[in-house]
Amino acid sequence: MTTWLSTTAIAVLSLAAFGMGASAQELKGPEPAPVGKSLQSEGGVRIEHNKLARPEKLPNYREPEWVTKLVEAGKLPALKDRLPETPLVIDTTSVEGAGTYGGVIRHVSGARPQGWNWAAGNIMAWGGVEEIVSQCLVRNAPVWMLTPDNTEPLPQLATNWEWSKDGHSLTMHLLKGAKWSDGQPFSADDVMFLWEDNMNDPNVATWGRPGAYGEGTKLEKVDDATIRWTFTQAFPAATLYQMGYQKMCPGPAHILKPLHPKYNKEATYQSYADALSPDKTPWVTMGPWTVTEYRPNQIMLMRRNPYFYEVDDQGNQLPYLDEVQYKLSTWEDRTIQTVAGSADYANLEDPSLYLESMRQAQTPDFPAKVIWGPRSLDWSVFPNYSTVCGVRSERDKAIRELNRNLDFRRVVTQGIDRQALGQSLVRGPFIIPFAGGLHPESDFGSPDMAVFYPYDLPGAKAALAKLGFTDTDGDGIVNWPAGGPLGGQNLDINLAYNTLYPTDTSLAQSLVTMLREVGINLMLQPNNTELVNLIDSCQWDWVVRRGDRYVQAPVMNLDYLAPVAFNRPEWHRGTPEKPQELLPFETELVSTMRQIQSEPVSAKRNELLQAFNRKQTENVYQFGLISVPAAILVNKRFRNVPAGTPVVAYGWGEDGAMRERLFVPAAEQGKVPELAAGTLPGIR
Ligand code: GLA
Ligand code: CA
Repeated sequence: MTTWLSTTAIAVLSLAAFGMGASAQELKGPEPAPVGKSLQSEGGVRIEHNKLARPEKLPNYREPEWVTKLVEAGKLPALKDRLPETPLVIDTTSVEGAGTYGGVIRHVSGARPQGWNWAAGNIMAWGGVEEIVSQCLVRNAPVWMLTPDNTEPLPQLATNWEWSKDGHSLTMHLLKGAKWSDGQPFSADDVMFLWEDNMNDPNVATWGRPGAYGEGTKLEKVDDATIRWTFTQAFPAATLYQMGYQKMCPGPAHILKPLHPKYNKEATYQSYADALSPDKTPWVTMGPWTVTEYRPNQIMLMRRNPYFYEVDDQGNQLPYLDEVQYKLSTWEDRTIQTVAGSADYANLEDPSLYLESMRQAQTPDFPAKVIWGPRSLDWSVFPNYSTVCGVRSERDKAIRELNRNLDFRRVVTQGIDRQALGQSLVRGPFIIPFAGGLHPESDFGSPDMAVFYPYDLPGAKAALAKLGFTDTDGDGIVNWPAGGPLGGQNLDINLAYNTLYPTDTSLAQSLVTMLREVGINLMLQPNNTELVNLIDSCQWDWVVRRGDRYVQAPVMNLDYLAPVAFNRPEWHRGTPEKPQELLPFETELVSTMRQIQSEPVSAKRNELLQAFNRKQTENVYQFGLISVPAAILVNKRFRNVPAGTPVVAYGWGEDGAMRERLFVPAAEQGKVPELAAGTLPGIR
């Protein structure tokens, strides 16, 4: 392994020296990537995999008394008939213990739901909504709290699994006898519908694609409660992580199938994607709570799902909390309200709010607990590399070619003063320059895994001139070289960003000023809705955004990092008809990614990830900007908040904190009343 790595490292260096050509020699060479001071809270929970969440039959099961009354009134089946044969038992000994029923958690989201058809790519408002509404074969987020001996994903809809001797097949057992929140059976057919008619149908804009599971992978139903994967490679252990959040998360086939064009001649792919608008409540899920009410721009209400398949280690059906509220506001407001005590949970992730929030946290009656995690949030600019998707004009074509030129990417990355960018967001030790790519401060990371090109304004300007770009009309912006399709025009590049995040806006604005110094004119392209839609269209030049979900624990989103599927990565897409035209270093990234996907030993996988990252940062795959640590804020009313919960690691803090296990002691429940006390989804 070591030999393999060092040979590659040498190859990387010589290749790069060759590929860079004359112009890049104007620029300062790489330096060690900056490392920051850690703010991380000490003493995180650690628990064994087979203890935290395990399929197990318990002698007795219990539910809230008011639910038993509804059973007695004939409104719903008895608890034992609602639970699967073998429920998933969730440990409470590693936190404060078995909880009390009742109470509510008040969340705030800065996004809005598009609809409930997550299999068709609908966004459900983020902020932890998706992790409640959609459940997946496995669960990644709480992996952060596992002891290092086994950090495999946790069971969710699949309770256990085994590999064949030769490692080419993986048999997964699903929750047998489990039911959707409308009482209909959950089975392997739900999973097969997701795989065959969504993930394998390029017309459906779903999150997961078969490419994430390795080439030639097959999935089949064995019986109602069993599925089997067949892989070309042996023991592709990393694929297990791709069976979690957003990817292998089946929707209710009994509702979705009749809306899908394959089964319904009247339906179109558009009508399928739009069929489940957010006002269609209660929506049917497998999750701990189910959306029962939606008031646009105001609130989304969720009530306990009486069919939820988890119990605590005493046999109490989860969740403990009867209600979840999502106030529909802004992300900034989420932090402001949690700091003020009118909301219960925030990921402190907006650096401009750090100093004030921390000042308030010193006051004695501060309502929330603050848990700092690693430096796990980062922002980068992603240049669009696609020559086949969203290219509408000669101009688009020329911009994509420029983005694909490493000399140009060096100009840009070395024209950015990251220190100044960071200090303009928040003073102090929070922010450090980010090389792009993956996080050095993560389970697998090491400080030397990134190639960092330092700020060098004179070098960047000289290198840009060498590329033929000079300011021929004296307005401060360089002009395209004469002769080409854009000959003589100013170098204007669109920079898209999401105005829902104040940090993104502020970074975009600072970049305009900085790159103007280099001679590049950035034209701001603000979006007040989800960037995903713009990105899907491929009709953008550059986009600035937070990249954290791919880079902190990349093993769960490997397919986001390299062109292993036609729609991945987001900054280099092909189309179902035309695959991407890969750059030579991307071909190498893909082949390293294939090795990562099929490497069963996690230590070796980590070395490969480091090599992958050296390769992509050496080639400036993205323009990394800054990285910051983040904290979660949770109202002090709640018990069972696991010590050390990170904002983002294997998933977001909302799910990493295991909300179904949070509870509010009875005496404190009156502080925040339930809005729909005594009701269950769809039960009258
Ligand atoms: C948004 C928020 C994050 C987190 C995720 C969860 O992206 O900014 O803090 O809540 O949603 O999906
Ligand atoms: Ca000019």
